[in-house]
Amino acid sequence: MTPDFDRAVELLRAGELVAFPTETVYGLGADASNPAAVAKIFAAKGRPADHPLIVHLAGHDAVDHWADQVPAVAWELMETFWPGPLTLILKKQAWVPDAVTGGQDTVGLRVPGHPVALELLRRFATVAGEHAGIAAPSANRFGRISPTTAAHVREELGDRVSLILDGGPCAVGIESTIVDCSGGEPLVLRPGHISPAHLEAVFGRRLRILMAAGAPRVSGSLAAHYAPQTPMRLVAGERLLDFLNAQRHKGDRCGVIAHSQPPQAGMPHVWKLLAADPVGYAHDLYAALREMDHAGVALIAVEALPETAEWAAVADRLRRAVTGSGGA
Ligand code: TXA
Ligand code: MG
Repeated sequence: MTPDFDRAVELLRAGELVAFPTETVYGLGADASNPAAVAKIFAAKGRPADHPLIVHLAGHDAVDHWADQVPAVAWELMETFWPGPLTLILKKQAWVPDAVTGGQDTVGLRVPGHPVALELLRRFATVAGEHAGIAAPSANRFGRISPTTAAHVREELGDRVSLILDGGPCAVGIESTIVDCSGGEPLVLRPGHISPAHLEAVFGRRLRILMAAGAPRVSGSLAAHYAPQTPMRLVAGERLLDFLNAQRHKGDRCGVIAHSQPPQAGMPHVWKLLAADPVGYAHDLYAALREMDHAGVALIAVEALPETAEWAAVADRLRRAVTGSGGA
């Protein structure tokens, strides 16, 4: 079925919420220039109001409307990676509502690489003004697993959202890479599908990878995030068999998220095999965590990932999910 773009644009214009697919995860969108509409996002998610939102745009042309003093390196990144899973933090224009920026002097911008998102943004800009943007965080309740299908959004938000545009499962599966270009050296605030190696190709030595700690400028950088309700544990591959046997002796059935085959046939545990490469793994990770939450297992054991740069983004999400689940 073709997504109902007309109704989506009507609702956005009326200050209502519309969930839509992007290539990373589904977003919960509102007219970014309407503070009352943006406030509804925070209410629907149960998210603290000082957490800034990403403004999604139809194209580069709209950037100067939202951002000020955009450095050359940011333009280079846009040229290379937009439309795509990259968010840039830039100095904001004075008019940009505090509701969007969490009261900061910067704004997060992204042109998403999903045909449904782009069509929605284009049509919205046609009626709301050529530079119009849609503010959208991931369409989950605060701290929970980001949705990668329309059904996940329904599960998370129910009728807190007026309309969900269905664009099928998200291709990337984890949230965009966030690069702060608002002052001095560009900094990676959140790792994502666009890897350090990718970024280095554009930045050369101008890039420092900083994983923000402390103040929650990036809500995805809170230690606890992306979490299932079932406790999670990271277990090294070589210890997995012993760990699972010990759980079995306790009478506990585990869910296992692994990138290796089960070491033994006939184990009483639920084994979810994900791809042994980071791109394929990211694509299915959040759906796997949700599946485990529904499987009635006592614990989710996750086979620890290789400690290499290419696995950094999924390893980051897993660590936060473990913390958020109350596991160790
Ligand atoms: O892939 C994505 O980025 C998805 C899709 C929907 O675009 N969106 C997403 O939104 O993950 P959200 O809100 O769950 O995470 C975006 C992060 C927020 O945690 C926020 O703190 C950060 O971007 N952010 C937005 N504006 C910022 C700013 N001005 N300074 C620092 N961080 C900012
Ligand atoms: Mg989120």
